[in-house]
Amino acid sequence: MGLEVVVLAAGQGTRMRSGLPKVLQPLAGRPLLAHVLDTADALGAAGIHVVIGHGGPAVREAFAGRQHTRWVEQASQLGTGHAVEQAMPGVPDDAVVLVLYGDVPLVETETLGRLVERAEQGTVAVLTVDLIDPTGYGRIIRGRNGQVLRIVEEKDATEAEKAIREVNTGLMAAPAARLRPWLAALDNDNAQGEFYLTDVVALAVAEGVGVNPVAAGGPDEVLGINDRRQLAEAESALRQRTASALLDAGVTLVDPARVDVRGRLECGQDVHIDIGAVFEGDVSLADGVRIGPYCVVRQSSIGAGTELHPYSLVDQSVTGPDCTIGPYARLRPGTRLAEGAKVGNFVEIKNAEIGAGSKVNHLTYVGDASVGKDVNVGAGTITCNYDGANKHRTVIGDGAFIGSGVELVAPVEVGSGATIGAGSTISKTAPAGQLTVERSRQITVKGWERPKKGGAK
Ligand code: UD1
Ligand code: CA
Repeated sequence: MGLEVVVLAAGQGTRMRSGLPKVLQPLAGRPLLAHVLDTADALGAAGIHVVIGHGGPAVREAFAGRQHTRWVEQASQLGTGHAVEQAMPGVPDDAVVLVLYGDVPLVETETLGRLVERAEQGTVAVLTVDLIDPTGYGRIIRGRNGQVLRIVEEKDATEAEKAIREVNTGLMAAPAARLRPWLAALDNDNAQGEFYLTDVVALAVAEGVGVNPVAAGGPDEVLGINDRRQLAEAESALRQRTASALLDAGVTLVDPARVDVRGRLECGQDVHIDIGAVFEGDVSLADGVRIGPYCVVRQSSIGAGTELHPYSLVDQSVTGPDCTIGPYARLRPGTRLAEGAKVGNFVEIKNAEIGAGSKVNHLTYVGDASVGKDVNVGAGTITCNYDGANKHRTVIGDGAFIGSGVELVAPVEVGSGATIGAGSTISKTAPAGQLTVERSRQITVKGWERPKKGGAK
């Protein structure tokens, strides 16, 4: 029996007070809906149907690259039952339908697997949770033997029903062939004038079809995002979940509450991550990597034993083993550090290779360059790579020594073992193994006196 996932994502999300559709709000750096679609993929869904309405074009656009997804337009939001019904023409009869919400991003695959299992047995499975404050949710009404009878919405509930703390999360699964006629039979004769998906439960019971409540792991797992506060709560819950997985994998987190992973973080053995670190996109940290406080690493791979000192940013870069980076270093896209390279404070590197054992330690910009091995780049050195129209390369050979305050006007080459005197502006090839200095001679003016106040008129 194939699994067809229907994701409800047509609601407006006014309480976000945002120009962005709710399901596109980022959680751990990715749209809420992306998390839900990941879950649907992980369940091995045969079909995924996303019901869109408010902000529909923007939502489709955001997932333009995605395949095997049916986008279903719900022109007006007449209720959750109506929303699911819009997707049913694309669902085969021999399937199980699983309803997810685009704004409930943290539900776990394993929990949903249990829901789907019940539906495969021909019953209706409803994901429930016990809440200390159930206000606003549909309540699970059970009969004398504990069997589920129906779900009543807050606005339709009696005072006694409102006291029930077991609520409907909104997520459910049912065999398609059963669901189809029930959806067609829904009416909107209720306090909100909507076609409630939840009314399917009473219809199932009336036909003698079993309804199975499946309890969620806890309130966090089924947290629905309606406002910024709930979005922050979800971020924090997800942060905890990610941190806990990293700790289990043997990573040291100085404070599990202060590490943000917005993408996929892969770690080797004995990785140490200090507070305030942010990882974005696909990041890999090899064995023994140490990430200092407040570093940002984006879409990069860091070699074994490499250390990032505080406040460093590494973006779309690759570092070899045993490198030292920062504090306050910025590695921009296309940076490649070979084994043991050192990049110090207030150094910016872009689209450049720095060879093994080379040092670029202070206040330097190296862009569009190839730096050989065992090179020393002095403080305040700058590659002038941009002439206002085009970018040019600087090539520095192995073992070169660049004095402090040097400007390398690209395209330019410094030969192996060359030495460049401090303060030089180098615009022609500096030959290998020789000293090149471009600097006016220092003079001392004899008998010169400093002007005094009230002197010359
Ligand atoms: C729904 C459930 C309620 C449950 C609660 C959990 C119904 C009738 N009620 O109530 O029992 O406790 O969720 O949060 O199902 N949507 C559409 N099209 C529509 C209406 C809704 O796509 O026409 C989408 C929304 O974007 C949202 C989801 O369905 O993602 C739920 O809609 P919402 O209005 O939040 O439902 P609740 O009234 O909260
Ligand atoms: Ca809601």
